[in-house]
Amino acid sequence: MTQHSRKQPLAMGFIALLVVTLHQSFAATDAPPTVTPPAPPARPERGSYNVTNGNGTTCLMAQMGLQLNVSINSATMINATVIKTLWILNLQPNLTRSSGSCDSESATLWLSTDENKTNLTFLFSMNATSSKFYLSGVSLNATRPDTQVSESNHSLDYLRGTLGRSYMCREEQTLAVTSDFSVNTFQLQVQPFNLTGDQFGTAEECQLDEDDMLIPIIVGGALAVLVLVVLVAYLIGRKRSHAGYQTI
Ligand SMILES: *[C@@H]1O[C@H](CO)[C@@H](O)[C@H](O)[C@H]1NC(C)=O
Ligand SMILES: *[C@@H]1O[C@H](CO)[C@@H](O)[C@H](O)[C@H]1NC(C)=O
Ligand SMILES: *[C@@H]1O[C@H](CO)[C@@H](O)[C@H](O)[C@H]1NC(C)=O
Ligand SMILES: *[C@@H]1O[C@H](CO)[C@@H](O)[C@H](O)[C@H]1NC(C)=O
Ligand SMILES: *[C@@H]1O[C@H](CO)[C@@H](O)[C@H](O)[C@H]1NC(C)=O
Ligand SMILES: *[C@@H]1O[C@H](CO)[C@@H](O)[C@H](O)[C@H]1NC(C)=O
Ligand SMILES: *[C@@H]1O[C@H](CO)[C@@H](O)[C@H](O)[C@H]1NC(C)=O
Ligand SMILES: *[C@@H]1O[C@H](CO)[C@@H](O)[C@H](O)[C@H]1NC(C)=O
Ligand SMILES: *[C@@H]1O[C@H](CO)[C@@H](O)[C@H](O)[C@H]1NC(C)=O
Ligand SMILES: *[C@@H]1O[C@H](CO)[C@@H](O)[C@H](O)[C@H]1NC(C)=O
Ligand SMILES: *[C@@H]1O[C@H](CO)[C@@H](O)[C@H](O)[C@H]1NC(C)=O
Repeated sequence: MTQHSRKQPLAMGFIALLVVTLHQSFAATDAPPTVTPPAPPARPERGSYNVTNGNGTTCLMAQMGLQLNVSINSATMINATVIKTLWILNLQPNLTRSSGSCDSESATLWLSTDENKTNLTFLFSMNATSSKFYLSGVSLNATRPDTQVSESNHSLDYLRGTLGRSYMCREEQTLAVTSDFSVNTFQLQVQPFNLTGDQFGTAEECQLDEDDMLIPIIVGGALAVLVLVVLVAYLIGRKRSHAGYQTI
């Protein structure tokens, strides 16, 4: 009996130690940074944008929240040095018109907002050899009170997916277009080719989402190890105490 009651606190102490070390290792990664960054802009609302071709079939479907990040040269200069200011624009789905066009090897999604003062296009291309589609170009034209913005790049390779499937990324993703312009996407799902019956094909998830799913797996694994350790400790304790009774 004395053996039994001495073993239990020991096992409990061991578990407590494990829990504390586990907690500390997690708390360390969650520790707040010493410098608090400025509050991030609000998350854009998720919009649904479709492109229909001449005979009424949907040829491109996209669902995403869009945030434009443009670095603009403001009119004010300090000592002949151009001052850049950041222009962050969340596209509001109910104020954004979408259209576009599709042909056999490319598909264009055209978005317009701000009473035609901001136009944005996404150009998707396909590589029939590798059976892949990808975002190959992004173009932005915007009229602002102080300036005219025109940024484009047609040698991009983003959102790569397999033909017949859709590309999906729940996490925020930053697509750098030029040195002064990037697009942040949120909860994105897109399919520019091979749509059947206005439905997305099987979704292919981006790496960011897969990394995200690793965290619960790691936590689950750690918990499983903990349970195993506790179980083994308990069994060893029980075996010893049983042995103790038998010798009496
Ligand atoms: C009409 O749709 C079919 C597929 O459903 C396509 O093969 C054909 O090219 C389309 N025609 C036009 C004019 O868009
Ligand atoms: C916008 O881009 C700049 C760099 O060009 C970056 O420092 C900033 O964090 C970005 N902001 C957002 C909200 O993406
Ligand atoms: C602008 O130039 C003046 C005189 O050359 C200098 O005193 C000042 O520090 C400069 N300001 C900045 C922000 O560079
Ligand atoms: C657009 O959506 C926003 C937020 O959902 C809402 O506040 C606004 O009234 C809507 N505007 C129009 C024109 O529907
Ligand atoms: C924006 O452009 C479209 C297409 O050219 C046109 O139909 C629409 O009337 C324009 N809207 C405004 C507010 O200028
Ligand atoms: C922006 O303007 C350029 C030059 O006029 C044009 O080639 C491009 O298609 C425009 N992009 C958008 C999104 O309207
Ligand atoms: C298409 O894919 C093939 C095979 O992966 C590759 O060799 C080729 O360079 C790709 N073409 C383009 C235009 O990306
Ligand atoms: C956006 O597109 C519309 C329709 O084609 C056009 O009237 C308008 O001038 C464009 N805006 C900019 C900033 O290029
Ligand atoms: C996708 O559509 C193209 C024609 O637009 C066709 O050649 C190709 O075989 C289709 N691929 C799949 C995987 O459905
Ligand atoms: C266009 O994008 C490619 C690939 O991201 C990059 O290497 C290139 O510098 C970009 N071009 C411009 C003008 O920003
Ligand atoms: C695009 O198509 C999907 C599937 O048919 C539909 O659920 C969605 O409402 C459409 N979006 C728009 C803006 O028409």
